[in-house]
Amino acid sequence: MTPELHQCRFLRAARREPTDTTPVWIMRQAGRYLPEYRAVRSKVAFLDLCKRPELAAEVTLSAQHALGVDAAILFADLLPILEPMGFQLEYTPGDGPAILNPVRVRDDLARVHELRNADELGFVFETVRLVRKQLPADVPLLGFAGAPFTLASYAIEGGGSRDFARTKRIMYGCPELWAGLMQRLADSLVRYVARQIESGCQAVQIFDSWAGCLAPADYRDYVLPYTKSVFDRLPPGVPAIHFLTGNPALLRLQRQAGGSIIGLDWRVDLGEAWRSVGYDVAIQGNLDPVALQADLPTLRAQAKAVLDGAAGRPGHIFNLGHGVLPETDPDNVKALVSLVHEQGASRQ
Ligand code: CP3
Repeated sequence: MTPELHQCRFLRAARREPTDTTPVWIMRQAGRYLPEYRAVRSKVAFLDLCKRPELAAEVTLSAQHALGVDAAILFADLLPILEPMGFQLEYTPGDGPAILNPVRVRDDLARVHELRNADELGFVFETVRLVRKQLPADVPLLGFAGAPFTLASYAIEGGGSRDFARTKRIMYGCPELWAGLMQRLADSLVRYVARQIESGCQAVQIFDSWAGCLAPADYRDYVLPYTKSVFDRLPPGVPAIHFLTGNPALLRLQRQAGGSIIGLDWRVDLGEAWRSVGYDVAIQGNLDPVALQADLPTLRAQAKAVLDGAAGRPGHIFNLGHGVLPETDPDNVKALVSLVHEQGASRQ
């Protein structure tokens, strides 16, 4: 890694070293709220955009440039990894992603393969290479993937879900299918994320967006061992953000499952959450995404409250508590980035 990258704000904070100001990036920063994204997206279907490295790279770079954030995140999606594992994936406008051949009974496991040849996801690694070549020398590129539970929920439900009843029924009642699916996902993720890093990512985020639907004991028994086996096998020394939403009762288990940076949603007080997971990890978060739709004084006060929670302690990466919403005004996102940089500087 170049010295500029190694010493950049994001990676210093990821290592819990002091920084000139608080680093900030925004989950889903290259999304539908951004005119630059909509312009590209109007010409190509979502999955095709993911699979065309020069377009995916353009979208990644234009978001980082427009917002002035301290990290770029690879433009891709959580679910394409499921295709080479035997699932048929489709995105329908308005309905979100769908898996056309979900697994429901034990015998379905026979058609789920572990990702053996990561080259089947070569478009992702090519995007990483193209982005890394063009990013400013001091801006790191984040790779990402879904955690085993969140991916399993799509593989079983066939799409989004409110109560994850099918997923939980298999988790409770069909141990062979559950273990087989979770193990194949975990093993595939290790290969996939390692290749993102080899291709040029400086850090990664693992999204367990839907694990918050679980009771703590169920998360511990049915999910944590698989998530932990992913984090334990990621390349050492590369910062890994472990993000989970919707259930503060899982915080300590989330920490136990791994990651050198714990990603928080907005339902917790950042200061309390950091104390509870321990100061030996970095922390990311956790402004309510809807605060970006408030007036500027409110946005400023809300951002200040998040920074107050971190209290100038090295190791805070500012972000939203979940992805930026499509109806957000990009100017407010830019204003947020500036005010985090401004207010963060006085606290170091
Ligand atoms: O952060 C970034 O800018 C990088 C790109 C990124 C996307 N999806 C692009 C995307 C990332 C990191 C994701 C992660 C993702 N994908 C998650 C976890 C994130 C979280 O918020 O917890 C999940 C659950 C998915 C699966 C997915 N992809 C859903 C549910 C949807 C439809 C809903 C939606 O937000 O639109 C997608 C589509 C998707 N992924 C879009 C984008 C920009 C919108 C597609 C479009 O242009 O129509």
